[in-house]
This record gives sequence, structure tokens and C-alpha cells, in this order.
Amino acid sequence: MKISTIGSGYVGLVTGAIFSEWGHEVICADVNESKIEKLKQGEVPIFEPGLKELIDRNRTSGRLKFTTDNKEAVEHADIIFICVGTPAEERIKSHDQYLKRANLTYVGKVARDIAMYIDRPKIVVDKSTVPVKTGEHVEKTIKRYLSKDIPFWVVSNPEFLREGQAVKDCLDPDRIVIGCNQQEPFKTMRELYSRFPERIIETNIWSAELGKLAANGFLAISISYANILARLCDKTGADVGQVAKIMKADRRIGPKAFLNAGIGYGGSCFPKDVAALYNIFSEEGLDSQLLKEVMIVNDTQVEYFIEKIKEEVWTVGDKTFSVLGLAFKDDTDDVRESRGLEVLKELCRMGAPKIKVYDKHALETTREELERMGMKDGFDYNEKLLYCDTVNEACSDTDVLIVASESNEFKEIKPYHLRKAMTNGEMNRPSWIFEGRHTFNPTEMLKEGFIFYSIGRPFERK
Ligand code: NAD
Ligand code: UGA
Repeated sequence: MKISTIGSGYVGLVTGAIFSEWGHEVICADVNESKIEKLKQGEVPIFEPGLKELIDRNRTSGRLKFTTDNKEAVEHADIIFICVGTPAEERIKSHDQYLKRANLTYVGKVARDIAMYIDRPKIVVDKSTVPVKTGEHVEKTIKRYLSKDIPFWVVSNPEFLREGQAVKDCLDPDRIVIGCNQQEPFKTMRELYSRFPERIIETNIWSAELGKLAANGFLAISISYANILARLCDKTGADVGQVAKIMKADRRIGPKAFLNAGIGYGGSCFPKDVAALYNIFSEEGLDSQLLKEVMIVNDTQVEYFIEKIKEEVWTVGDKTFSVLGLAFKDDTDDVRESRGLEVLKELCRMGAPKIKVYDKHALETTREELERMGMKDGFDYNEKLLYCDTVNEACSDTDVLIVASESNEFKEIKPYHLRKAMTNGEMNRPSWIFEGRHTFNPTEMLKEGFIFYSIGRPFERK
């Protein structure tokens, strides 16, 4: 089949590469010239495990091409995937800061390009995460700008991949959702995903669109639930890790449930999607305080963590801090809405003089993000930071260590070596560790003499 993905970010690039791997002729388009230039030169502008190999292989075979020209992408394809961003947008004159609608400007622009350049019947698939009824707007927009009478069909095929595991998720998806209010496109879409016949869910376009947001909302609800339980555990002596284990043993909940407590969810999806879903309820005149509470818990979880740091460390101006994990999760370079970055910014605002930072993939994106902040808070964030190339470098000669994202690399750190590195061998120098994601064994850390705090895992501290 001839396929185009318009928007070549985490979703468009990964799905485009996978379609080409399955033997289709694919063009990935993006308005970002430097991104496309890099791709044409064989560089991959984002980090995703396995993506470079996939792109290299299919680019060389000629099945995967890149362009900045949406006309070329539209003309090439029988199936066009819209994969542009749908970021949160403040609602004007709203009394409620949590009401943010999805900004559909980019989706609208692509719809107009499709109308302008369509040259034969095509299936237009929305893969971006959008509010329910967006498909109807896409259809109306294309019709409005269409100059020739050419049939087209709008389908919703939401994407459920996770960053850091995007290639794996696309090659082994839990489900493929195909939503359309007309019958014509189902045969072609079924054929495209013919390797997963059992996993296809066919439905109308509204259910497909809402199903995607509903799934993200549900996952976010469980994370916030785990986080309020963690606060209760801190007060009562229960261990939120054990509490989650007990819950996950229930087959109706399951071992993969999003019940890992921490400093909250980040990323380019949960924060904006929960807000967008809350906004849809509001626009439909329905109440959804549940979703608002989820966002409030998430927003205050970093504050809660910072309070714990303040309580234990007391003064920050005389201490060196180290932060491990800057991306919003492990194995990605994406720092959008990263909770670790929020912690880092708060430490800077609190007057921490020097902060060593480490992340396997996100040092450059962090530097860029902090550069964009400029002197907004009266100082240059980057001047306070020491970017470290290794965990060892970040952990040596430092007073306070903060773990902000879950990573096997951090789990491998040996407590004895860590204590020695942090204190520079002066074993009577105090070392503080604050875990925003459960990483270490508290008993081992206490044995080594660390002052140790792990969200929702109270134990006798030194
Ligand atoms: P992204 O920001 O990484 O990529 C979007 C790309 O679209 C950008 O490169 C941008 O330059 C390009 N673009 C914008 N307007 C364009 C236009 N008119 N023509 C061509 N290109 C244009 O975003 P993403 O993370 O890939 O997410 C895309 C959509 O998929 C969002 O709706 C998101 O919610 C959804 N989604 C994301 C993930 C994820 O894990 N990132 C997972 C599932 C669904
Ligand atoms: C999430 C969903 O998991 C995907 O199914 C969905 O396609 C995607 O959003 C999207 O719509 O864009 P992603 O944001 O890439 O994927 O990553 P997750 O693994 O879901 O993690 C999101 C955040 O939640 C991270 O900050 C993570 O640390 C946090 N999290 C996750 C927790 O705090 N606790 C958990 O138990 C799980």
C-alpha cells in the first residue's frame, strides 16, 4: 500500500517506519525542516530504542522516504495518517485553570492540505489523540476546501504506544482500534493490520476517539490513586509498594496496573489528555470532578516531594544536589512535562547553588528546555547545572541525591559505592537520598548510613 504519515514525531515516525517494515511504501512528512533534513541524512531526531535500525533498514531499501512537502505526501498515499501534535490550550475567560482544550490547529491545517492536494480517492486516518467528534470536523474541513469531487473517508485509528517502548508497542499492540461511520474503509484498514486479526476493534468514529482519551484518563486516575495512597502510607507506616502488590494480585487489576507511586505522571500525553477529557465533559455540560482531582493530585505531588526534601535537608544554600533522571520517564529524550525537571527547577528557585544532573538520553533536551526558559525567574537555570556524562560523575562529591525517573541503570548502583562516591570517602559526611520513583532497597540504604526518603515507603529514618 502507499501510505503517508503527516507529522513525523514520536507517533508519525515510528508508525511510518513500521508500515515500511511491513513492506508498504511510506512517506513521512513534517513541516520541521531540520527534522526532515536529519532523517534524509540518516540521523534520527528523537531517541526511541530500535527506531534507528528500523529507519536505516527501510530508508536504504527505498520503502521509507521523508519530505517537508505535504503536497507530495498527500499525492503519494492511498492512506494518509494525520500524526501531528494536539497540545493543551488554555480556555480563554475560564475560571478553572484545569479546563484546557486540545489545540486542533495542526490537525485542521493538515485537513486543508489534504483537500487542496487530493488527486484520487483516499482514506484519511486520524492517529493524533483528539476530542470526540474531531473526525466530523476533519471531514467538514476537507469538504469545504475541496475543489474537485473526489471521494474520501475519515477514519479514527488512535495510537496507544508508550514512549521509550514505541517500536515494541507498535509491533505487538494490545489492540488496534478502527473507528469509522462508513463501511468502505474497513476492508483496507483490516488488510493494513492483517497481522493482528484478533486484536482489531471495529467501531464508530466517536467511540474510537473517546476510547483513546478514556484509556489515558483511566491510567492517570490509577497513578493519582497510587499517589494519594503513598501520602497515606507516609502517615500510617504502610508501604505503598506492598499495598500496590496486594492490589495487583487481584486478577481484575493485574500486574501491569499503573499503581506505581512516585512524583506523578509527566509527558506529552497524560497531562494534556486528562485536561482535554475534563474539558469535553464540561463542554457537554457534564460534571467530572473526578478528573479534576486526578490533575490536582498530580500537580501537588512534586510539591509534596519538595516539602519532604526541605524537612530533611533544612538548608539548601550550603549543599550540592544531584538529580538522576530528567526525561519524563526512562529510555526517552522527551522532557515535555517532566516531573524530574519540575523538581530540578524548584531546587534552583529554592537557591540550590550547584546541581549535578544526569540522564542517559535527555541531557541535550533538558539544556534546550532550560534555555527556552531564559531569565524568566531572574536567573539562568543552565548556569546552576553541571551536566554529567555518567551516573558516577553525577553521584560523586555531592550531598543530596534525587532519583526522578525509573531506570534499571539507577537500580544497579551499589549502596556502598554510592555512599563512598557521594562523601568523597569522608564517611562521617551526611548523605541524603530522596527517591521520587522506587529504585533502591530502603533497608540496604539505611545500613550504609544514608538519610533516605522514598515516597510512600516509611521506615525508621536515621
Ligand atoms: P510530536 O510533537 O513529537 O510530533 C508532531 C509533529 O507534527 C512535529 O514534528 C511537528 O513539526 C509536526 N507538524 C505540525 N504541524 C504539521 C503540519 N501542518 N504538517 C506536517 N507536520 C506538522 O508529537 P507526538 O508525540 O508524535 O504526538 C502526535 C499525536 O499523537 C498527539 O496527538 C499525541 O497526543 C498522540 N500520541 C502520542 C503518543 C506519544 O507517546 N508521544 C502516543 C500516542 C498518541
Ligand atoms: C502513555 C500511555 O501509557 C500510552 O498507552 C499512550 O499511547 C500515551 O500515553 C499517549 O497517549 O501518548 P507515555 O506517556 O509514553 O504513554 O508513558 P507511560 O509509560 O504511560 O508513563 C507516563 C507517565 O506516568 C510517566 O511520567 C511515568 O513515570 C508515570 N507513571 C506510569 C507513574 O507515575 N506510575 C505508573 O504506575 C506508571
